[in-house]
Amino acid sequence: MSHVQLKPGTTMVITGAGSGFGLEFARLGAQRGLNLVLADVQTDALDAAVAECKAALVAGGQGGKVYGLRCDVSRREEVKALANLCVERFGAPHVLINNAGVAHGGLIWEHTTRDWAWVLGVNLMGVVHGIRYFTQLMLDAAAQDAAWRGHIVNVASMAGLLNSPNMGAYNVSKHAVVSMSETLYQDLSLVTDQVHASVLCPYFVPTGIHQSHRNRPESLRTDAKPTPSQMIAQAMSTKAVTSGKVSAAETAQLVFDAIEANRFYIYTHPQALGMVQTRLEDVVMGRNPTDPFAGKPEIGQQLRAALRDAKA
Ligand SMILES: NC(=O)c1ccc[n+]([C@@H]2O[C@H](COP(=O)([O-])OP(=O)(O)OC[C@H]3O[C@@H](n4cnc5c(N)ncnc54)[C@H](O)[C@@H]3O)[C@@H](O)[C@H]2O)c1
Repeated sequence: MSHVQLKPGTTMVITGAGSGFGLEFARLGAQRGLNLVLADVQTDALDAAVAECKAALVAGGQGGKVYGLRCDVSRREEVKALANLCVERFGAPHVLINNAGVAHGGLIWEHTTRDWAWVLGVNLMGVVHGIRYFTQLMLDAAAQDAAWRGHIVNVASMAGLLNSPNMGAYNVSKHAVVSMSETLYQDLSLVTDQVHASVLCPYFVPTGIHQSHRNRPESLRTDAKPTPSQMIAQAMSTKAVTSGKVSAAETAQLVFDAIEANRFYIYTHPQALGMVQTRLEDVVMGRNPTDPFAGKPEIGQQLRAALRDAKA
């Protein structure tokens, strides 16, 4: 059976389209002449993405159109409005990419209720709402036309397959996205052969993710000064993200290829899967969790020393 083809006439909805992966999905979509519905909570970045895609679509002359909507994916009614906009302009989307996400680090007992609400609101509930409001639209379109194909991509992380220390809420949210994606895959296969799902698990790729706090809503900010563990997590994440060797544009290409091939697991750094294997062997063998820094002990030593010095 054929799968979704990313060509003119295909409609794609992208959340978090103003920056990083989302912006690269939009750029690649515009290059292919797709109809695009772009959503982001940061309006200046969203407006710039829409303007850039509009210009590329006009220049490409393949007929695709682009619309943007300010949408906070953690808010159910805003994701519903996004689905309504898509249906009004283009009908059910062939592809939904639940990409919007934020990162926050620090020792797990130091996360505040607001930290959890922010990270789980965007990373977990954002995907929940996307699945809730778009899947049925796709299933209805598929039921009306045997040739119709749909695909949902959820952006998780290698943090959804590992549990690196000092980033608890993020790990929890991304494990939940992997779980939701595997369940979505299985549930879809119970009811249709026309709509499929994938999960993207990137390792470190240069984007704006280490500056996620720029879009943290006022109501979920805390006045407290960052703790030492949070400052260390911020510094480590900035270093890891900005020195990533695989680009966001390359990642977007991997995702487009996976959609067309109907491949479920999408990895930017397959060489990092050895750590996943070790974790799963720990689980199966009932072994205590392996030191995540076993391969790079100097980093583990530095982190432990920094945290213990900060306490002293
Ligand atoms: N870059 C990496 O190394 C990496 C690794 C693993 C997973 N990821 C995941 O990739 C996804 C995309 O992030 P990115 O790396 O491109 O970062 P990014 O910060 O460049 O882009 C994220 C986009 O999401 C938007 N956003 C934030 N909160 C939102 C909300 N409530 N509603 C709607 N939009 C919101 C931001 O404005 C931004 O445009 C995230 O889910 C992230 O967790 C990134």
